[in-house]
Amino acid sequence: MAPAKAGKEIKLACIILAAGHGTRMKSLLAKVLHPIYGRPMLDYALETALALKPARTIVVVNRQFDTENFPLPKGARYAIQKEQKGTANAVSAGVSALGKSFKGTTLVLNGDTPLVTPGTLKRFLRLHKKNRNKLSVLSFTAYDPTGYGRILRDEDGRAIAIVEEKDATGDEQDICEVNSGVYALEHAALPLLKSIKKNRKKGEYYLTDIVELASEKKLQAGVFCQGDEDEFLGINSRLDLARAHEALRLLKIKELLEKGVTLIDPASTYIAPEVKVAKDTCIYPNVFLHGRTKIGKGCTIYPNVRIIDSTIRDGAVIKDSCLIEEAIVGKDAFVGPMAHLRPLTRLGKGAKVGNFVETKRSTIGEGSKAMHLSYIGDTTVGKHANIGAGTVTCNYDGKAKHHTVIGDGVFIGSGSQLVAPVNIGKGSYVGAGSTITRDVSAGSLSITRAEQKTLKGWAAKKTVKPSKKKKKKK
Ligand code: UD1
Ligand code: CA
Repeated sequence: MAPAKAGKEIKLACIILAAGHGTRMKSLLAKVLHPIYGRPMLDYALETALALKPARTIVVVNRQFDTENFPLPKGARYAIQKEQKGTANAVSAGVSALGKSFKGTTLVLNGDTPLVTPGTLKRFLRLHKKNRNKLSVLSFTAYDPTGYGRILRDEDGRAIAIVEEKDATGDEQDICEVNSGVYALEHAALPLLKSIKKNRKKGEYYLTDIVELASEKKLQAGVFCQGDEDEFLGINSRLDLARAHEALRLLKIKELLEKGVTLIDPASTYIAPEVKVAKDTCIYPNVFLHGRTKIGKGCTIYPNVRIIDSTIRDGAVIKDSCLIEEAIVGKDAFVGPMAHLRPLTRLGKGAKVGNFVETKRSTIGEGSKAMHLSYIGDTTVGKHANIGAGTVTCNYDGKAKHHTVIGDGVFIGSGSQLVAPVNIGKGSYVGAGSTITRDVSAGSLSITRAEQKTLKGWAAKKTVKPSKKKKKKK
C-alpha cells in the first residue's frame, strides 16, 4: 500500500477495535494489554496496521482504557467508544474520528487478533480493489469454528450473511468458513453502519450484519478466504492467549532450526518473535530469550537461562541458570552458572563472570574475571583483571551511587570491599579481606585487614568444662 502523500487523495485508514470489555479474560487488565512474549497484544495489531503505511490509524478503546500508559506510535490516535454497544458501534466511533474528509478505504482490524500478518492483509486489500468491492470481509477455514461468526453463502457461492455462534442454527454451526474480523470498507459502504439493528440476544450492534445489508442493498461485496488459521486466532480467553504464545513459539522454533540453530529440546525453548539467533548456536532446554535479544554465531546457552533485551556476541557461553537483562556479553565470554547480569552490564571479549556473581551498570574489560560470589555495580574494570571470590563494590552510600574503577591487570584478593568512589590503579594488588576506602596507586599493594595473631595452646586452655549441676529427677 503506497503511503498517502500530502495534498494527494488519502488512500487507506486502519481502525483497530479494542474497546470490548474482554470479560472472558477474567482480568482487571484490558484484554488488548495482555502481553504476548512481553509485548501487549495491541502492539502486534498496531505494528501490522502500520506496516501497511496507512494515512490514518485509529485505535478504538473504552473510557477505562489507560491511554496515557500506552502512548501510540506516530500516525496513530485513540477514539473513545463511550459505551460498549458492539463492533458496529465501535467502527462508527472510529469512522467519526477519521473525519468527513477521509474518502479512501477503511481497513477494520480486531485488536484481539495479534497474529495477522501484513502480507495477508495486503493480499486481501488487493482482492478487494481488484473486485471493485465496496465491502470485503476476510474469512478463513477453521478446524474448530467455535466462537467465530460463520459465513453463509448462497448456491452460487456468494456470501450473503455472517451469523454469530449464538444465533446459528445447528447446520450453520457446522460451517467451517468463519469471519476473521478483518473488513475493508469503501466510503459508499459506511452508511450501512447506521442501518445495523441491535442484536436481540446480545443487545449489541454487530458489524457482521453489514454483509447481509450489503447483499440486500446489492452493494458490490465479497468474502475472501485467505491466510492460515493460526494467523486469525482471536484472543478472548486465557486459553486463547496460551494458544497464541504457542503458535508464535512454534513459528520461531521453525525459523531458527531452518537458519542452523541447534535446539536440544524445541518443546521447552521460548524465543520471542523479534529475537535474533545466528547459526551454529546451541540452545539447551528451558531457555527464554525475550525482547530485542541478539545471539551471535556459535554460542552455547545452557539450561534454565533467561535473556532479555541483550546482545550475546559470537562464541560466548552462558552456563546454567543465568538471568541476563539489557546487557552485552562480548565475543567468547563466559557467564555463569547462576550469574545475574543486570542492566547496562558490558562484558568484554573473553571476560568471565562466574558462579553467583551479580553485575549492574558495569563494564568488565577483555579477559577480566570475576568467578565467584561477587557484586560489581557502577564499576569499570579494565583488561585482564582478576576479581577474587566474594569481592563487593560498595557503590551505594544510602543516598547516591558512586563509581569504582579497577585498572588493567589488577588483582583483588578474595573477600574485599571496595568503597566507592574509589580507583584501583593499573597492575595493583588488594590483599584478601581488605576494605578499601581510598585510591590505590598503580603497581602497589593495599591491604587493610588487622595483622594475624596466633595464640599457641589457646584451644586447650579454653576447653569448656562439663557443668556440675545435677539433672533434676522427674
Ligand atoms: C468477532 C466477530 C466474529 C468473528 C470474531 C473474529 C462480531 C459481532 N463478531 O467476535 O464474527 O469471527 O470477532 O475474532 O463482530 N469491540 C469493541 N467494542 C465493542 C465490542 C467489541 O471495540 O463494543 C472490539 C473488541 O475489543 C475486540 C473486537 O471488537 O477487539 C471483537 O470483539 P469480540 O467481543 O472479541 O468479538 P468476538 O466474539 O470475538
Ligand atoms: Ca474476539
